[in-house]
Amino acid sequence: MFKIILEKDKCIGCGTCAAVCPANFEMGDDEKAKVINKEIENLGCNRLAEENCPVKAIRIKVEKKSNEVELKKTEKEE
Ligand code: F3S
Repeated sequence: MFKIILEKDKCIGCGTCAAVCPANFEMGDDEKAKVINKEIENLGCNRLAEENCPVKAIRIKVEKKSNEVELKKTEKEE
């Protein structure tokens, strides 16, 4: 699963994300981008939005469902 993080403070409202990925980005009344689904299963065009944002206001985080398992492993190794 992926998490889309949009830093509104950084967004300059250029509209590129909504243009390259209208499926998940739209422009809000404040002329800043809005993410439609913050948690998604498939990246699709979201990567394009991230790559093309001129001020890097969009980040994509990989959410691993096996977080707990990984934590336990790390604890053992230390
Ligand atoms: Fe804003 Fe970047 Fe989209 S500046 S409108 S988040 S492409």
